[in-house]
Amino acid sequence: MLVDRKLLLSFLQCCAASQIQQGAPSPPTAVWLLRSLHYRLDFSCSSSVDLSAQDQGEALCLTTDHCRAISSVLKQNQHSTQLVQNQVQLILRDCEVEDRALRELLPILHIVKLSPSKALLLQLLDLVCEGIEEGLLRHTESLCRALDGELDLSETRLDQKACGSLALVLEHSEGLSELDLSHCQLTDHHLQPLITHLHKVQVLDLSHNDITDALTDRILQLVSTNTSIHTVRLFNNRIMNSTAFLTDKRFEIGINIRS
Ligand SMILES: *[C@@H]1O[C@H](CO)[C@@H](O)[C@H](O)[C@H]1NC(C)=O
Ligand SMILES: *[C@@H]1O[C@H](CO)[C@@H](O)[C@H](O)[C@H]1NC(C)=O
Repeated sequence: MLVDRKLLLSFLQCCAASQIQQGAPSPPTAVWLLRSLHYRLDFSCSSSVDLSAQDQGEALCLTTDHCRAISSVLKQNQHSTQLVQNQVQLILRDCEVEDRALRELLPILHIVKLSPSKALLLQLLDLVCEGIEEGLLRHTESLCRALDGELDLSETRLDQKACGSLALVLEHSEGLSELDLSHCQLTDHHLQPLITHLHKVQVLDLSHNDITDALTDRILQLVSTNTSIHTVRLFNNRIMNSTAFLTDKRFEIGINIRS
């Protein structure tokens, strides 16, 4: 069943409303809906079937009510065998969600597989970091799991705050399989708060940034003392002397020719 994303929001809101009216045990309507959608809640442009084509390529704005409905339907049915067996995909590319609305989704992160836009991912990192210890830990774990352990922030401008949030998330994570920070305009300065936590990542891509020789020792130290990290890509940075990196096969550096 192909459902337009706006129609899907209406369906979910109806399901959420009827849940509230009838109370638990929840009606299986929501589960039927999710099953017919193959457990994919797709709010990306590709699910837009607006024949006027007005909606094509346009960001869909999810309000607090929308997010509350999504959260409520999934939460209510999270123990349903079908939902446990078929992890629900929540596709939020091409969506705009304000922080307040996005917060409504934090409690369901642990039961979905999430495909966010990069802007939303940055927002999520910040939101997760708003929590203190226990909440921070729980939400970090949920977020990493929802992303399948892969954090792709490539081609995203990361300011100091974003780097700080990312550092905190890494610190509290169990370890990510992949962190892509290529094409992020990162300087040595940006990397300062991050570097002590980067060893938690298995594959780290720092290519196409502005990292210089000044950071060489720190990066070498990071990798030499940690066995969990198995690839560090450093292509096309401002590293003039790459000799030291050539001794460890885990580094992929090529020739850094930019100056
Ligand atoms: C990994 O590297 C970091 C940063 O250099 C260091 O603080 C940490 O102790 C290392 N961990 C292990 C298990 O060696
Ligand atoms: C490049 O780095 C290596 C190893 O760190 C060092 O021995 C060598 O002197 C450096 N070369 C230059 C030209 O600075």
